Amino acid sequence: MRQRRFQRGRELAIDLGTANTLVFVRGEGIAVFEPSVVAIDEASGRVHAVGEDAKRMIGRTPATIRAIRPLRHGVIADFDITADMLRYFIRRVGGGGLSFSRVVLCVPSGITDVERNAVEEATLAAGARRVSLIEEPMAAAIGAGLPVAEAQGSMVVDIGGGTTEVAVLSLGGIVVWESVRVGGYELDEALVRHVDANGHLLIGPETAEAAKIACGAAWPLPEKIETDVAGRDRITGLLRRTTIDSSEVRAAIAQPLETIVDTVKRALESTPPELASDVANRGIVLAGGGALLRGVDQLLSSETGLPVLIADSPLECVVLGAGSSLEETAMQGRTARRGGFRRRRRRS
Ligand SMILES: Nc1ncnc2c1ncn2[C@@H]1O[C@H](COP(=O)(O)OP(=O)(O)OP(=O)(O)O)[C@@H](O)[C@H]1O
Ligand SMILES: [Mg+2]
Repeated sequence: MRQRRFQRGRELAIDLGTANTLVFVRGEGIAVFEPSVVAIDEASGRVHAVGEDAKRMIGRTPATIRAIRPLRHGVIADFDITADMLRYFIRRVGGGGLSFSRVVLCVPSGITDVERNAVEEATLAAGARRVSLIEEPMAAAIGAGLPVAEAQGSMVVDIGGGTTEVAVLSLGGIVVWESVRVGGYELDEALVRHVDANGHLLIGPETAEAAKIACGAAWPLPEKIETDVAGRDRITGLLRRTTIDSSEVRAAIAQPLETIVDTVKRALESTPPELASDVANRGIVLAGGGALLRGVDQLLSSETGLPVLIADSPLECVVLGAGSSLEETAMQGRTARRGGFRRRRRRS
């Protein structure tokens, strides 16, 4: 038999998010943290840029280049572009080509079998050798350091770009789960509508996101923060700047925030009493970029009457959790393999 030399595969954990994609390399840590954006040259159909470079092009591209976010609400909206993006990131960490990486991919809990197959296939198409899936709330809870394996209830709320997922975990499983297709982007859109309705000023979603990060709040702040936004005046058609402050942003985003709060309340209502009392003692843990919104912990605490804590690295805890599960599954040899692939024998 002819001997073929294969480079040793890398083991990766990937959080393929609506807003950001993170890649964790076993033994190294987080190697990629980039926006989930791809710029495509429409004339040639080729990928022009990926990640941060592509994000800068949103709304600023010439006619032939289109900047695309290939995921919507945590699931794939454009299969080929998602695979292109994954291929680019996997190659960048040295896991493409002949090295056949093994990948643990984070997926939202509520996705359908079709969506599940799509992310698996996209990861295989991107050059992964084997793919196993981990549910995002589980990964987030592990990454936030919650005792998920113990006979104790832990509640995690992951407010991402396109979804909010709420889960109560105990004994290594998800006991209660609720999700809503509302995340940071819905807050940005609400701010776009508010600035238009109140100031007749049309701002782009990226401008709204920057303003939300600069001065947004979910709870009254001791001191107002202000920021400038630029857009097009709806009446004169001219470019114009205006100043908005934190209380204005708070009013603008109140409605989508209420939807997020209601989702958390629904999860609490269906939590069995023993686990609910654990959550009441230990508190709710917030993860995802939305956890960084000022006062979101106070809002949730006031609405639920429970203590609310923010995970140490909210944007990273999903991939960190998946990364540590990678270490565990490697030890236990529990990797799922795609049916269509032959088992490759280890060379001794
Ligand atoms: N400092 C901040 N204040 C408020 N929001 C923030 C802040 N930093 C990031 N965000 C928001 O967090 C969101 C991105 O979070 P995250 O990376 O967790 O999402 P994602 O995992 O890509 O999305 P999903 O899990 O829904 O697929 C964006 O909407 C962004 O505007
Ligand atoms: Mg996420």
